[in-house]
Amino acid sequence: MENRKIIELLQEMTLAEKIGQLSQTTGEHYIGKVDSEMVETGPDFPAHMLEGDTLYTMGSIIGVSSAGITNRIQRQYLERSRLKVPLLFMHDAIHGYKTIFPIPLGLSCTWDERILQQVAEDTASELRATGIHVNFSPMVDLVRDSRWGRVMESFGEDHLLSGNLGRAMIRGYQKGEHGVIADSGVAACLKHFAAYGAGIGGKDYNAVDMSWREFYAYYGKPYEIALQEKPKFVMSSFNSFSGIPVTASEEMMKEILRGTYQFDEIIISDWGAVSELQNHRIAADGKEAAELALKAGIDIEMVSTLYLQHYEEILANNPALLQEIDAAVLKILQFKNELGLFENPYADEDLEHEVLLNPRFLENAKNAAKRSCVLLKNEQMLPIKQEYKNIIIVGPFAGSNQLLGNWKCKGSFDDVVTLPEGMKRADESLNLQVYETLKDCPASRLEQCDFIVVAIGEQWELSGEGHSSVNIELESSQQQLIREVKQTNKPYACICFSGRPLALQNIIDDIPALLWCWYPGTQAGNAIAELITGRGTPTGKLTMSFPRHSSQAPIYYNEYSTGRPANESSYSSRYQDCEIGPLFPFGHGLTYTDTQYSGFRISRHDLTDGQELTISFEVSNPSKYDYDETVILYIEDLVSRAVRPIREMKKYRVISVPAYQTVSVQMTLSVDDFRYLDHQLQQTIEPGKFNIYINDLQTPIASVEYR
Ligand code: NOJ
Repeated sequence: MENRKIIELLQEMTLAEKIGQLSQTTGEHYIGKVDSEMVETGPDFPAHMLEGDTLYTMGSIIGVSSAGITNRIQRQYLERSRLKVPLLFMHDAIHGYKTIFPIPLGLSCTWDERILQQVAEDTASELRATGIHVNFSPMVDLVRDSRWGRVMESFGEDHLLSGNLGRAMIRGYQKGEHGVIADSGVAACLKHFAAYGAGIGGKDYNAVDMSWREFYAYYGKPYEIALQEKPKFVMSSFNSFSGIPVTASEEMMKEILRGTYQFDEIIISDWGAVSELQNHRIAADGKEAAELALKAGIDIEMVSTLYLQHYEEILANNPALLQEIDAAVLKILQFKNELGLFENPYADEDLEHEVLLNPRFLENAKNAAKRSCVLLKNEQMLPIKQEYKNIIIVGPFAGSNQLLGNWKCKGSFDDVVTLPEGMKRADESLNLQVYETLKDCPASRLEQCDFIVVAIGEQWELSGEGHSSVNIELESSQQQLIREVKQTNKPYACICFSGRPLALQNIIDDIPALLWCWYPGTQAGNAIAELITGRGTPTGKLTMSFPRHSSQAPIYYNEYSTGRPANESSYSSRYQDCEIGPLFPFGHGLTYTDTQYSGFRISRHDLTDGQELTISFEVSNPSKYDYDETVILYIEDLVSRAVRPIREMKKYRVISVPAYQTVSVQMTLSVDDFRYLDHQLQQTIEPGKFNIYINDLQTPIASVEYR
């Protein structure tokens, strides 16, 4: 449709119809509850006024899936609505729709933007085939505290990496350049703006309070970077920020998101967050809540329908808002037009079956799962030796298909490849025995066995939204299992499934080898089997530090320097009853044979404005595996006027290193990479020395000076 017609359409709309476009509801109001095809991702809100004509002015629907159902609702809606503006369908396909990929935190451990883009492309194809137009992903909230259940949805503790991976996913979902949505693409919704990952104490939905320096330099950075990819939507976050709930914050929405970060597309609230302004106790009633959110610039209200209930009174008191409402409705209409919905509002029900669980997507899911596993420890236990044929898999996850992780969308446990299935596919000659506990295993079997795989972890429901925990240690019954296995004197290794880093100090000495698999998704068993049987090597590297104990969280690599750096003295910044530093640091991850770095060279030692410097070195792969190695470059500013982090990651690259080969690598830095945001919010660099580190956070490979 020509844009002129869209403008005419807007002019024809009543105010009630315009507010309908700014309101989102769930599918059951139209066709009743269809349990298998509708997911509720938040608490109920009384759906006032959602009857009769109002129902047929709504702009969008959340949480409905399958082409048959989206088409049924759309058809009914278009028959009854006056102006026949098609509905948008929105969903949460956080790591896949039907084909489930590793959880985002796992994906981030690949460090590979190509993989994240591919995951998003495949997810978009499935979503679009099913009639969904907007995906509430990616989430780029910076996280430092693994007590927060939603770390599983994040890309970890570094702001640059989080921003870049978010960008890659937006590119993958939308499929077109510069914010264009291609035919089989969906609109990305970047979330949750802003700083939702910094809830005090790691408690979900909690208040956030931080300096502007902390915001602009760290917590705000991932959004700033990801917004460059032009997502069609941004979701505001539940939390308050320095006293003002973000949903009501003109400063956050208008000055920072629209102004500083120049986002000019559609802003949607989170589920019920407009109504929750009453719980924050900054609004006395629903009318005040709706008024605050509208004034802050929240274009679409998710689920709570207060805009619809109170718009007349609000506009009578604030006539100037009408202009903003018109602008928001116009954007929504233009987006519907861009998707071609006025011409064809329906999904192709035949195509859906071809697209879902397409073999190509499954292959990509396996590859992503392989790349996201992190080998945390290995005392020459893995891979399992080829001559070991009698293998016991034991533990709560031994034969489990519950390997999708939270936000599994339409993923079905029946489609999951379990570990024994994957092992059998990898090597038919294996004699596998699978038990939940060691007590279930007859003594004779144990006697015959060559190797034990202990499959442990945290159940998938224990991480995700609303699942913060004070205790993030491995369940005691599982610790007990590991000790029992140790006593058998058989060689063994642990594989662990989890949505968050767990605190393993109490058990790590009893674990000779540990492969951290996060939640790997539909292809879990195939991916893990290929790694532990040595058909490939793990290559993932951590993007979140592992605390030793629950109360060592929050913990992250780029802490600020303190006046009393952690050391053996009790007058130093540390916990006295815990070793210094994380159990496994950011960037940690082993391969089966150590990758070797050598020949570090630097093109110049003086940092000069306008000139780049190049670091060159060789990376050698002494193993029989072809693999991708992640190279991470950090800097350290020896003296600065405002306190800086001890180490700052500035560059990273994923490079392919063929078996037994050496590859030359170059990384370039400019003066800008050494600047920092000072206490007066100025990008600054002061004369002095900087150290440069590659992968190893302890030993610098070069230093440079800015004069
Ligand atoms: C609440 C969550 O915070 C958000 O991430 C999600 O997209 C919405 N619910 C919709 O399900």
